[in-house]
Amino acid sequence: MGQDTGSASCEEKKSGSSDDNTKCGIEKLPENDNSRIRNVIAVMSGKGGVGKSSVASLLACSLRRKGYKVGLLDADITGPSLPRMFGIRGMADSNGFAVLPPVASTGIKIMSLNLLIPNEDDPVIWRGPILAGAVKQFWTDVAWGEIDYLIVDLPPGTGDVPLTVMQSLPLNGLIIVSSPQDLAAMIVRKAIKMAQLMNIPVLGLVENMSHAVCPHCGEEIPLFGHGHGREMAEKFGIPFLGNLPVDPKLSQLCDEGKVEMYQTNIFYNFGPEVLLTYTRNKV
Ligand SMILES: Nc1ncnc2c1ncn2[C@@H]1O[C@H](COP(=O)(O)OP(=O)(O)OP(=O)(O)O)[C@@H](O)[C@H]1O
Ligand SMILES: [Mg+2]
Ligand SMILES: [Zn+2]
Repeated sequence: MGQDTGSASCEEKKSGSSDDNTKCGIEKLPENDNSRIRNVIAVMSGKGGVGKSSVASLLACSLRRKGYKVGLLDADITGPSLPRMFGIRGMADSNGFAVLPPVASTGIKIMSLNLLIPNEDDPVIWRGPILAGAVKQFWTDVAWGEIDYLIVDLPPGTGDVPLTVMQSLPLNGLIIVSSPQDLAAMIVRKAIKMAQLMNIPVLGLVENMSHAVCPHCGEEIPLFGHGHGREMAEKFGIPFLGNLPVDPKLSQLCDEGKVEMYQTNIFYNFGPEVLLTYTRNKV
């Protein structure tokens, strides 16, 4: 388990070696023998339905297109949506010791509760601690192999599971997704505050569904007024990664299990350069 880190300060621990399993006194789960995961990034939002799973998937696809080895951990145990978006059905295999994550068409490895239950329509009616335990097992009991970026799709809000992920997984940072309806910014502020309390860097804010693009002339039509996301990011002092338009093509591809075919440049500049500022590891 964790090693003795003596009286090193938080900063020293953060810039410590990749074997350092503790940050700020909180014990991180060690990697298993079947995994070599270099960077872990979680995608969170203050409330549901703003597009976390879509953004997590698009980030995974962008990094994969750049040639990195990518995994997606579906930490939304009661509302898992990643297997469907990537067209993965059936149950995950095991090698007798660890669960093997199914591989999507572009090579992204995926683990989700839906890949462990016989019928994906069956509801999961577990209490918080059990949900949190399941997410930990996605780290400890899955043979991820070699992964440059593991993207974690969190359930909405700031409950048990996001807390467990922030405490137990060696996160490099978080990406926060908002929608322009979060006018009061209160919900986004909550997410950012939680990250700060847990000492996890916020790598950026993505504003989803802020505008539509006219299919005829390409004009961008703001749906809820201009620039809330950018303003909010500036206010909180976090990087603004960009606006994702409402695009029927995206929801269609997600429904058809073909999210890997969707192209967006929102994460074009997101890679090791960005993480270097924060990161414990380099790709
Ligand atoms: N930019 C977009 N354009 C069109 N449809 C979108 C866009 N973003 C998300 N959607 C659609 O909105 C729905 C919710 O998106 P998604 O599942 O990514 O949100 P979520 O925040 O993960 O939701 P939950 O809180 O339930 O996990 C999905 O049907 C998705 O296809
Ligand atoms: Mg989701
Ligand atoms: Zn037009």
